[in-house]
Amino acid sequence: MAQRNGMKRIEALLAAMTLEEKIGQLTMVSFGWSETGPNKSVDIRAEIRAGRIGSLLNIWGADETRAIQRLAVEETRLGVPLLLAFDVLHGHRTIFPIPLAEAALFDPAAWERTAREAALEAAADGIALTFAPMLDVSRDPRWGRIAEGPGEDPVLAALFAEAKVRGFQGGDLASAGSLAATAKHIGAYGAVTAGRDYASVDISDRALHEVYLPPFRAAVAAGAAAVMPAFSDLAGTPASANATLLRGLLRERWGFEGVVVSDHGAVAELVVHGVAADLAEAAALALAAGVDIDMMGMAYAQGLVPALERGRVDMGAIDAAVRRVLQLKESLGLFDDPYRRGSAAGAAAGAASRGALARDVARRSIVLLTNNGVLPLARDLRRIAVVGPLAMAAADMLGPWAGAGDPARAVTMVAGLRAALPQCEVVFAAGVEVDSGETRGMIEEALAACRAAEVVVLCLGEGAQMSGEAASRAQPDLPGRQRQFAEAVLAVGRPVVALLSSGRPLMVPWLIARADAVLATWFLGSEAGHAVADVLTGRWNPSGRLPLSWPVDTGQIPIFYGQRRTGRPADPAERYSSKYIDAPAAPLFPFGHGLSYTRFTLSDLQVAPAVAGPHDRVTVAVTVANEGPVDGEETVLLFVHDLVASVARPVLELKGMAKVRLAPGERQVLHLILPVDDLAFLDLDLKPRLEPGAFKVYVGPAADPERLLEASLSVVGD
Ligand code: BGC
Repeated sequence: MAQRNGMKRIEALLAAMTLEEKIGQLTMVSFGWSETGPNKSVDIRAEIRAGRIGSLLNIWGADETRAIQRLAVEETRLGVPLLLAFDVLHGHRTIFPIPLAEAALFDPAAWERTAREAALEAAADGIALTFAPMLDVSRDPRWGRIAEGPGEDPVLAALFAEAKVRGFQGGDLASAGSLAATAKHIGAYGAVTAGRDYASVDISDRALHEVYLPPFRAAVAAGAAAVMPAFSDLAGTPASANATLLRGLLRERWGFEGVVVSDHGAVAELVVHGVAADLAEAAALALAAGVDIDMMGMAYAQGLVPALERGRVDMGAIDAAVRRVLQLKESLGLFDDPYRRGSAAGAAAGAASRGALARDVARRSIVLLTNNGVLPLARDLRRIAVVGPLAMAAADMLGPWAGAGDPARAVTMVAGLRAALPQCEVVFAAGVEVDSGETRGMIEEALAACRAAEVVVLCLGEGAQMSGEAASRAQPDLPGRQRQFAEAVLAVGRPVVALLSSGRPLMVPWLIARADAVLATWFLGSEAGHAVADVLTGRWNPSGRLPLSWPVDTGQIPIFYGQRRTGRPADPAERYSSKYIDAPAAPLFPFGHGLSYTRFTLSDLQVAPAVAGPHDRVTVAVTVANEGPVDGEETVLLFVHDLVASVARPVLELKGMAKVRLAPGERQVLHLILPVDDLAFLDLDLKPRLEPGAFKVYVGPAADPERLLEASLSVVGD
């Protein structure tokens, strides 16, 4: 009934709208644009009143959103509410770890919980649409945006996608605490040439469908309300003009009925790409491809009328796009109550528990890369030195998409350690800046602090803005003079625990070889320092696992575990095998790597039935034992290898995962379910096909051939 009323309302509105008002519904602009953007003369409020703007981004706050919404609802001819959008990537006011860090949890329930809490906070600030989750699989740490996504693996990314969509959207999109989710940026953006942001993508259809699209398909299946095409082109067709992708695949094959919102200015950029001569052609191409909302391109606003006049666009296509936008507003409950979100009380509610969640998820995101026994820190330490440019860098802790987070309130490494170690003197010295020269005397001061300390915590890495959009790096190592500083600190001779703050794996093998312990501490969000202190002191036994391969050297990029065998697999004893003569072929740390303070063993792998047919469910059982001294959480990964197939399959493909918490001495048998249908792959025509034959089943903590248990599975035909 409500749905029928909604449809009637939409049709009545469409019938009443002028062409200008329709185009307005397809136009999204950034609030504040009139002060800072390309068209300073535009008065956003006047444009809203005239019905020429249907959605806004970058405005939040209960009062601000209510005031602007009131203009649309009360002062426009038809009273259509605005769609208010914001990039709520990994938290809104409370900032959770960056997505790449959160991926290290291998825990869909946690991913969902943080999205739910972020949605509650953002909705209380009047937001209805988030431009998240970012689902770009990437195997190239040069690309800054690897920080925003779930890492290298399509299966992990698909699980991440579902969890985030569920979390943001909740059970009911119309509820006051729900945000519409945007799966972005479709079109293999993570494969930009040489890791350079916005560059062209030119990959095989197989890679597109096997590696880059699965998380988008999962997001759509989970009900994502919106999808955003990438800035990049795919073999010459920019994603915003890619009808095969957006219409043929997304809408027709996957059944997506939501809204496609362009990336920032991407429709107008079709001209710059060189596929449209002017804004009218750009608008026509994007609309034909299936882009409903033009974010900040003003190509629909300026180009659709001339495109209509030239016969490049018909009213039916415009109406269809407007209908989808109005439908999204309807689903969000905006027509019933445009002020439903945006309650100041709501924003404050739950802040304390969100802080606790942010701390817990942050400590679980930390990956202990190496440890020679210096960690956890001894309880009787009297003096430690916390040095380096990321030691007292509150704003950097939030990472490149800080949302509405307050940088001043983020907990630094120094603050976290001081709070955790009240008996111990925690001496701070920055030593060097993140990315510039030494300020006179700074290094000396820091080295003196190190000499006087029992242990040094060396806080190195990138500033928040060195990762994320437009932050590709040709050499993802330590910027500025950090290496020089770190070498001097190591030379002091005290035990050194190195923390790497970054949005990507940093290639610092020299540091990893020499420091007593190294931790990937990413950008951990509002509670970063507390989370780090929990791990260093042993209050939390580290459990994070790498969601991507950590290269030794930039020359290994792109690097990922799901490689094919090749005809000449890497063999150190064989010159004519697939390797480098100046670097190892394997990563420094494999996908799934992450140490603990306890010792887990895996044994007794059982696969039943060992001969199975289509639609069967195979149970993979493995015994996990905690043989070390403390409680801990182990992650177990299930991989397969299809030994002989009509298309060569990767040596390892992730098919499942499980987590278990065990006390010292405890053991448990885990059962992972492997549906035989999951062994299907895309055949030569890119159609899913299950081929009978022999498979290897592997279970282990990481994609490390040396640490995997192995069993056989035989798949028979119907
Ligand atoms: C980014 C998107 C983001 C948009 C709006 C763009 O530059 O590529 O990921 O959602 O801006 O802020």
